[in-house]
Formats: sequence, C-alpha cells, structure tokens
Amino acid sequence: MAIREIKQDIYAVGAIDWDRRLFDELIPLPDGTSYNSYLIKGDEKVALIDTVDPTKSQELFNNLKELNVSHIDYVIANHAEQDHSGTLPGILDLYPDAQVVTNERCKDMLADLFLIPEKRFLIKEDRETLYVGNKTLEFMKAPWVHWPETIFTYDREDKILFTCDFLGSHLATSDLFVTNEAKVYESAKRYYAEIMMPFRSSFGRYLDTIHNIRVDIIAPSHGPLYHNPEFIMNAYREWISDNVKNEVVIPYVSMHGSTAALVHYLIDALMKRDITVKPFNLTRTDIGELAMSLVDAATLVVACPTMLIGPHPYAAHAVFLVNALRPKLRHVSVIGSYGWGGRMLEHIEGMMSNMKVDFIEPVIVKGYPKENDFSMLEKLADEILERHRRLDIVSPENILVRTPVYKK
Ligand code: FEO
Repeated sequence: MAIREIKQDIYAVGAIDWDRRLFDELIPLPDGTSYNSYLIKGDEKVALIDTVDPTKSQELFNNLKELNVSHIDYVIANHAEQDHSGTLPGILDLYPDAQVVTNERCKDMLADLFLIPEKRFLIKEDRETLYVGNKTLEFMKAPWVHWPETIFTYDREDKILFTCDFLGSHLATSDLFVTNEAKVYESAKRYYAEIMMPFRSSFGRYLDTIHNIRVDIIAPSHGPLYHNPEFIMNAYREWISDNVKNEVVIPYVSMHGSTAALVHYLIDALMKRDITVKPFNLTRTDIGELAMSLVDAATLVVACPTMLIGPHPYAAHAVFLVNALRPKLRHVSVIGSYGWGGRMLEHIEGMMSNMKVDFIEPVIVKGYPKENDFSMLEKLADEILERHRRLDIVSPENILVRTPVYKK
C-alpha cells in the first residue's frame, strides 16, 4: 500500500488486501480488506501502532524502509489477533530495541502466539500514557470488541483515536478517509454483524468514552479512516440499540421443493401484511448477508427439511451461527418438512440455547404442503404481525389481509 500522511508525522503504513475473500476461513469479504498500521514520528520517539497480517509483512517492511525508519522505539499492540500482530515478530527482529506496548492480558496472548520474550514488553494499563516527544499517547481498555484484551490508543495532541477492529470495515479502497458513507456503512455493518454483535452490550460505554474526549479522526485497523466520527458512531448506536424492525429473516434450504413451497408461500403472506422479508437460500447465500440481516430483524423463521433424522446440515450451520451471534431477535419459528418422521424441530430448538426469544408455533408438514398446511402459514403470518404490533414496530397503516388458501 502506498504510504499516506494522515497528519504531520503520522503515516498510514499498512497494507490493502484487494484479493482476500475469506476471513477466519468462514467470513466472506466481498470487498477485500486492509490491515492498517500507523507510524507516529514523535520529536523524541518513534511508535508503530499495530502491524499487518503475516501475508503482507513485506509491504509494511517496504513502507518503513521508504520512510527511512531506522529505529522504532515502541510497537503498540491494540489487539493480539494475527491480522494485526502477525508481523510483530518480524518487526521486533528488524528493530531489536523496539518494545511492545500493550496491557497485561494482551501481552500474555502475544507471548502465547509468538513466543515473544517478557523483556520485550512495556505494560500500560487503562488511561496510562506514553510520551513520544510532542505527542502523548493514551491507552484505553476496550475488552471484548471481540477478544478480551483489546485497547484503543488516543493521540491527545492530534485528536486521533486508533480503535483497532472497533468501528472498522472490511473494505479495500484507495481512499484514506471515507468518501462514500453509504458503501462504508454496509461494510462496517457487515463486519459488526459477523464478529462484534455478540458483545454489543459493552459498546455503548465505548461510544460514550469516545464522545467524551475530543476526537477529530477515528483510525480503525480495517477500512478507511473517519473524518466525521459521528457517522460511524451513530451507526453503531443504531445497531447496538434494543430497537428491532418489522422484519422477518428466513434462512432456508429445500431438497425436493416441499420446504421451498412453504417458504415462498410465507414470503408472500408476510409481504401482504407489509412485513419486510429477507429470505436466504442457504445453498448459495453469503453468510455475511444473513448476519447483517440479523442486526435489525424482530423475527427469524428457520425453514428446514428433515435429512436422515435431523435438520439439513446447511440449516444446522445457519442456526449454529445465529446462536453464536446472539442477535436481538424477539421471536423464532421453524417451518419445514419430513418424509416419514425425525427430530428436526427438536434439534433446531435445542441449538438456540443462547437466544432469549419466544418461539412461535412451528409449521412442520409431511411430504408436500397441503391446503391445511398453507392455512397454518397464514396463521403464522398473522401471529408474527400481531407480535410485531405488540412490539410497536408496525406502522398504523399495516392492514391484515387474509388471502385465499393456496392450492397446488
Ligand atoms: Fe482485525 Fe480481531 O482482528
């Protein structure tokens, strides 16, 4: 990545990964990502904030060489995950006097991951500072952005807050700062949904902390920087709030068309009640899109055929993910089909132990759905509408429309 100056003596020296399409061997990255690393040349000391994914080490080394950085005093580790710490051993080899500045918990994790010796660490705890000459760097604990050790680093004089994963976006772009807020909103929401959503209860506190210090620039470790911190902070406030929307998410899979017939009927039934529906065919969906839809939705309907004696594995995968992400859903139901028996429903309900939701009467049919089964879907759609009304998320003009029962 080309070096860019953010402010005088503060440079972006990380790497853009235009081609990366998967993170954690799970999370799709349709727009690539970046591993942001920042160099601060103080009057007295030189500090590097975070490094880059090990696949991009050479780019960081080249950038430091281009800037004639012959000496680094401090490498600040905001987070131990390898996409930011993976080049730490290489930097410590190149700059043998450099100390790793982080908190005790992160130190232990870095020592475990990279066998970094104790003497290379300088421990700074919450609100402690490091003076590098004309700049004072303050460290703020932010555990459970998604790992337990994370910190933010605040450059008091330049009013830049380095937030690591928090507020970031998986987006490869040549823009140093956000220029297209709509695009970044989507990328940041996807990132939030995929790994941060389970920890959202802490985030209001972090946003309040940021609000209470003056921050001109937010510099995350993925994606472009924010000149307008309020943009991303307001987005996060919306996502972490307890508010849900009049939306139903339907992850589904169908082997021979029976479950698909239920899904398509239910989609129409919900649409006729002015409920937003987001169906995801699990044989081809991007799991990140499904995660994003869960940020706001009030209701989830899992649609699943019975395979052997349990749920289809694709549906089980989706339910496992939903349970892990702990979205703020209020209601869950299951629809699906079976040939001769099985325990698909029990398996799916049993996989939702993290979810504090009300289960709505499922619609499970034998073979292809029949008239009575479609009537049951009408009742399910009525029940979802009624529950959404009780949540006060349905606009007054929503009118219950009863439709003729579907005939095959
Ligand atoms: Fe970008 Fe949690 O690492």
